[in-house]
Amino acid sequence: MRLAVGVTGASGAIYGYTLIKALSGLGVEVHAVYTDMGCKVLAYECGLTLAELTPYAVVYDNSDLFAAVASGSFKTGGMVVVPCSMHTLGAMATASGRDLLTRAADVTLKEGRRLIVVPRETPVTAIHLTNMLTLAQAGAVVMPAAPAFTHKPGTVDELVNGMIGKILDGFGLEHSLYRGRG
Ligand SMILES: Cc1cc2nc3c(=O)[nH]c(=O)nc-3n(C[C@H](O)[C@H](O)[C@H](O)COP(=O)(O)O)c2cc1C
Repeated sequence: MRLAVGVTGASGAIYGYTLIKALSGLGVEVHAVYTDMGCKVLAYECGLTLAELTPYAVVYDNSDLFAAVASGSFKTGGMVVVPCSMHTLGAMATASGRDLLTRAADVTLKEGRRLIVVPRETPVTAIHLTNMLTLAQAGAVVMPAAPAFTHKPGTVDELVNGMIGKILDGFGLEHSLYRGRG
């Protein structure tokens, strides 16, 4: 399986990093795109650079509209945008396609593939909610970064893994990141 992952400058860079590592560990071919702010927040929150992702993913420059994931003929099983900022949410809701991340998301939708968007902001405005509704109506799965406590996480890693497990569930991928209630 091959998936695209977009990571923006919303808080929660650990979600993107954990997802990419988990997908790679499951044998998924990962094609990752970070926005400029995505890179900065990754450094700020996790102390990591894109170089640390190269064992797990093909990493593209967000300005590279010639990249494989910009084209519908490059077959993927879908895309996840995690964490998704309100800026990128709005750009995707208008099918802007001005950078690689939003172009790849638009391609995912137009090709009828699964797009999981994980918005991270609170509180949210009517504009944010309208953009989420627009994407949901276009076929995206909107999965807010709202980690559950039902699996009784004892650490931040366990909390994060619960959220990442939900994303993997969204692609039908078997994993052991958290134990559901059956
Ligand atoms: C440390 C930090 C945390 C941020 N957290 C959020 C957030 O949770 N949600 C959000 O929508 N924007 C957040 N922002 C603002 C975005 O980074 C900003 O709107 C940026 O333009 C997003 O650009 P991008 O969508 O191209 O990544 C944060 C910024 C910083 C510096």
